[in-house]
Amino acid sequence: MMVGAKSGGSSGGYKRIVYIICAVAALGGLLFGLDQGFIANSLATIEEHYHFGVQGGERYSAILATGGIVGALLSGIFARFLGRKRSLLFAGFIFTAASAISAMLPSFPVLSACRFVLGFGVGVASFVVPLYLAETAPASIRGSMGTLFQLMITIGIFLIALTNVFIARAFTNPSTSLPLMFLTITLFAAMMFFGGFILPESPRWLMLKRRKEQAIAVLQKTMNTQQEIDTEIEEIEQALHGPQGAGIGIVLQGYFFKVLLVGVLLQMFQQLVGINMMIYYSPTIFGYAGMTGLLAAMTVPTVNMLFTFPAIRLVEKWGRKKLLYVGAACMMVTMVAAGLAFQSVAANPAVISGTVKAVLLASAVIYIFGFAVSWGPVAWLVCSEIFPLEGREVGMTITTMVNWTFAGLVMGNALSFMKAHGNASIFYVFAGFCVLAIVFVAMFVPETKGITLEEMEFNLKNGVPLRKLGERPALQNVLPRST
Ligand code: BGC
Repeated sequence: MMVGAKSGGSSGGYKRIVYIICAVAALGGLLFGLDQGFIANSLATIEEHYHFGVQGGERYSAILATGGIVGALLSGIFARFLGRKRSLLFAGFIFTAASAISAMLPSFPVLSACRFVLGFGVGVASFVVPLYLAETAPASIRGSMGTLFQLMITIGIFLIALTNVFIARAFTNPSTSLPLMFLTITLFAAMMFFGGFILPESPRWLMLKRRKEQAIAVLQKTMNTQQEIDTEIEEIEQALHGPQGAGIGIVLQGYFFKVLLVGVLLQMFQQLVGINMMIYYSPTIFGYAGMTGLLAAMTVPTVNMLFTFPAIRLVEKWGRKKLLYVGAACMMVTMVAAGLAFQSVAANPAVISGTVKAVLLASAVIYIFGFAVSWGPVAWLVCSEIFPLEGREVGMTITTMVNWTFAGLVMGNALSFMKAHGNASIFYVFAGFCVLAIVFVAMFVPETKGITLEEMEFNLKNGVPLRKLGERPALQNVLPRST
């Protein structure tokens, strides 16, 4: 994260505007996390005020995902036509408006509509923020900015879990606590919205719109030397003469379809291993086993955040596939353990032993550790790496939508599945998906560590099998370009 960044205008340091750019990116990720993590420690309070029952609660939780799908679908169009800055402002505005309206405790349909709109904002922000950063932040910190976005999501999930727990304890009346919970989101959303006005437009978008003078003016604000500016302009011009974003028709190309399938399945499994059941419902699930209190409320978001830090280094050290195997294996074993623990609770619900509680807690910790160091960041990372340049926008839009679709499925059904088939059942289902995920990684996922995106693209277009896509091509006629 911005390590080594210096302020001031000296060569090698970063100007103040660069910090503002990074802060807005951080807020975009944070809002993603605040909305995703909101439910865990607010569900009981919302239920107290609105009385919607298990299925109503699931529907309310899952509607965020529906908004996310629509937002992800339209975000490319917004980014292209409105520009990056105005799309960010738009996301900041709808985050602010939807959370402020929710804080007024409107009727349940209006509250649900607001959650849909928040999801829409998350969908737009999760596409536009990384794009804006990649185009605007100085090259030397672009990589760290990508990981900063991931980290901020988990920090957001943690932060809202913490504030909601304290608000619920301090104010037992939902008519007071619920507005405060929503206002926490409003506060950060307003910071993103108003902060957005200071942002410069992306120089790459300005060049795309043939506004070179303005692009140069922006680069003068973010860069230190004329040489840096000239090089950047030259690179943008070259990129604009290169392959441009293809339309949806590209999915019919065999080579593209193959990697699309990898991305789609990767995002599908990222959700079908059950992460959002734990993120959304862990306090409820712990409650089924008679566990309440801070431990039940905070274990999952804390472990999730803490283990995202090492993941960022491990991804480069161990590679993507090894992490995916280790993560899925951890999650599989702990899901089976949690299933067994719940079976023993079902056998004797009157007395829940300390051992059962310990097994459940340990399973949750190891499970979240398994996800946070692997499938959490790696699924997104691999999806940003495998698509050839001309189809990257289409590929990432489709795979993001798949992620939200399966997230919605899990959020919308996990609790009622437990009610219908017994609490243990869902854990075995997720354990089964972990096994399938391991088989899928072994058979189809390429190792993308240490290969340039261009080499991989060369392999892909030359019929190299999926699993070997990440092996450096023998022919050295692929000239590595920096992406
Ligand atoms: C997933 C989200 C999940 C989050 C938890 C992300 O990678 O896509 O669905 O809530 O990780 O940290």
